[in-house]
Amino acid sequence: MPIHLGIVGVGAFAQCFIPLFKAHPRVSRVTLCDLDPEKLAKNAAQWGIDRTCPSLDKLLETDVDAVAIITQHWLHAPQAIQALKARKHVYSAVPTGVSLQEIRDLERTVRETRKVYMIGETSYYYPAPVYCRKRLAAGDFGRIVFGEAEYYHDMDHGLMEVLAWRCKSLGLDPRKQGGDPPMYYPTHSTSMIISVTGAHMTHVSCQGYVDREPDTLYNPDVNIWKNAFSNEAALFRMSDGSSARINEFRRVGHPGTVRMTLFGTSGSFEENTAGPIWVTKKWGEQQRLDDLLSCAGVAAKDVAASGSEGGMEKITSRDGTHMGAAKIHDLARLPREFLGLPNGHNGSHQFLVDDFVRACDERTLPPNHVWNAARYAIPGIVAHDSALQGGKLLDVEDLGAAPRDFAIK
Ligand SMILES: NC(=O)c1ccc[n+]([C@@H]2O[C@H](COP(=O)([O-])OP(=O)(O)OC[C@H]3O[C@@H](n4cnc5c(N)ncnc54)[C@H](O)[C@@H]3O)[C@@H](O)[C@H]2O)c1
Repeated sequence: MPIHLGIVGVGAFAQCFIPLFKAHPRVSRVTLCDLDPEKLAKNAAQWGIDRTCPSLDKLLETDVDAVAIITQHWLHAPQAIQALKARKHVYSAVPTGVSLQEIRDLERTVRETRKVYMIGETSYYYPAPVYCRKRLAAGDFGRIVFGEAEYYHDMDHGLMEVLAWRCKSLGLDPRKQGGDPPMYYPTHSTSMIISVTGAHMTHVSCQGYVDREPDTLYNPDVNIWKNAFSNEAALFRMSDGSSARINEFRRVGHPGTVRMTLFGTSGSFEENTAGPIWVTKKWGEQQRLDDLLSCAGVAAKDVAASGSEGGMEKITSRDGTHMGAAKIHDLARLPREFLGLPNGHNGSHQFLVDDFVRACDERTLPPNHVWNAARYAIPGIVAHDSALQGGKLLDVEDLGAAPRDFAIK
């Protein structure tokens, strides 16, 4: 049965998702929801959607089957819990939550309500982890020995503006709300290692860099997080006996990246600013992966082959191109309605929407269910704790894997 979906928060990031949810063949209706009436009216007109709602509270009283929460990043867990308790399926933008307790509560609520919960982790669908999952399944890595992943995003690269607009609509002071610990937003990095290896973090030691820039963003006496660290680097022990290093940097002289490197006993995947590469122990055995993994867009093969509607010369991006996707992506599984529609974050947006809608419609667990969402987020929260204690080795709490018999209602 097609679902009626409510999109909560029609700010900047939602612009990428409204057209995709609206176009999905298994979504019968979309309702837009935001606290800001002007923004709501503008989006309703822009996207041709007649149903709107002034708040999450009100939306949960309606007949929507599911909600996509694309609100400010510190609000997600309580809002997801509220929606699950109202018996709605939940898609949540990252991060999962910003405290251990709210993530524990979220996991318990999913177990109790048996609704779909999916974390909208873009990195999961990036070409590098997609590629590495395939090579691990083929046995090409051997045993995993070490992983690295990092999210470098300097505050000068638009993040000050992002902070300002996220605070504005809630009437908050950016100087107080900003400066959150970088490890409270670790999921882009952690998910890359965890989703490939299937292992989870068991212990962590983390170091923090005390910020020295002239603004007061990371002044622990100013921000509500009491946080001084603008960069955090953590070394984790993994459940498969390997280790992993995760960096979350917000003050760094770098163009910015979300990337991973993974070493096995037989082969390794390396990614740096110059691009991705596969290497083995044999000298000279290297495979450059730029063509396979670059998100340059891919022509739809079946459209080209069928010669429908007058053949190749008539194919436009609207009907013949998987926008922003890489050759490694499994594009055949996406709805044809997505052809020519915007995509983003390395081809991930269309897969995110499709995985969530399918899970709701088919009553199945999506790949990034709450147990994975917890495993992506909790290690960062504990890592920050370790940094506050000078790098003390701490146990990482694990809420476990998805129960085998978990049935969605
Ligand atoms: N790669 C990624 O995964 C990625 C990239 C960008 C943003 N994000 C995430 O997307 C989220 C949104 O970011 P943004 O820049 O679009 O923020 P934004 O401030 O532009 O939009 C958030 C909107 O949510 C609305 N909102 C908050 N509480 C509400 C409530 N109770 N009811 C109705 N509306 C409510 C606000 O009014 C605001 O318009 C963030 O959590 C961010 O972490 C993820």
